[in-house]
Amino acid sequence: MGRSLPGVSSLGVLDYYLMDASSLLPVLALGVQPGDTVLDLCAGPGGKTLALLLTGYCRHLAANDISGSRTQRLKQVLHSYVPRDRNQVRVTSQDGRKWGDLESSTYDRVLVDVPCTTDRHSVLEEDNNIFKRSRKTERQMLPMLQVQLLVAGLLATKPSGVAVYSTCTLSHLQNEYVVGRAIDILASQFQTDVQVEDLSCFRHLFQDTFSFFPSCRVGELVLPVLWANFGPMYFCRLRRLT
Ligand SMILES: C[S@@+](CC[C@H](N)C(=O)[O-])C[C@H]1O[C@@H](n2cnc3c(N)ncnc32)[C@H](O)[C@@H]1O
Repeated sequence: MGRSLPGVSSLGVLDYYLMDASSLLPVLALGVQPGDTVLDLCAGPGGKTLALLLTGYCRHLAANDISGSRTQRLKQVLHSYVPRDRNQVRVTSQDGRKWGDLESSTYDRVLVDVPCTTDRHSVLEEDNNIFKRSRKTERQMLPMLQVQLLVAGLLATKPSGVAVYSTCTLSHLQNEYVVGRAIDILASQFQTDVQVEDLSCFRHLFQDTFSFFPSCRVGELVLPVLWANFGPMYFCRLRRLT
């Protein structure tokens, strides 16, 4: 009888991937159905890509990240955690803002987990901190980049398909404002109608695990608190109508 190494399953892949529990919520909100084609537009380093694969429902998964080093990390993660014969993932390193042109109206489900001010990291670590003076312009441009990524993600979604927008910041300007702006741009510039879907069931289902901000107009926001030190995590589900 062969013995597995500690942390390595009988399939030869690692047993667990550590991540903030709230990071699973955007993936659950996407509601992947059996046989769906799925795009993970900003996928590196790959925690949510793994969670998407764990649903067992993705017929095909396209995982993209603009950063070459993040894409490499994503490939390593897939190599370490996904059995070789089950790897139905295509990894690319493109600017996600182009996806509306590259593959318009193509995917049943699209995850748009954008770069943001990563609030937990920003209050805990000096290293690569987005609030450094040298990153001021990049920080100020974040909401615009986020809007462009969400617009592209929704254009890549099939009509009647679903996209989820997510961040790990408390900032209204990077959360609800971005959702509203993307909906306006899609209607006015692309004649594409999108509807925000209610996710309040998440608040009830997970009320013992996460603390939810009670007053989001669109989407749901997990607040880090002492009794539930997860997040922040904002997620909003949008259905493309036309
Ligand atoms: C919050 S992280 C994604 C985390 C990832 N979804 C996970 O669960 O591991 C945001 C990612 O967006 C990528 N990114 C930034 N600008 C991008 C762009 N224009 N197109 C695609 N990806 C981009 C960054 O390189 C970064 O890896």
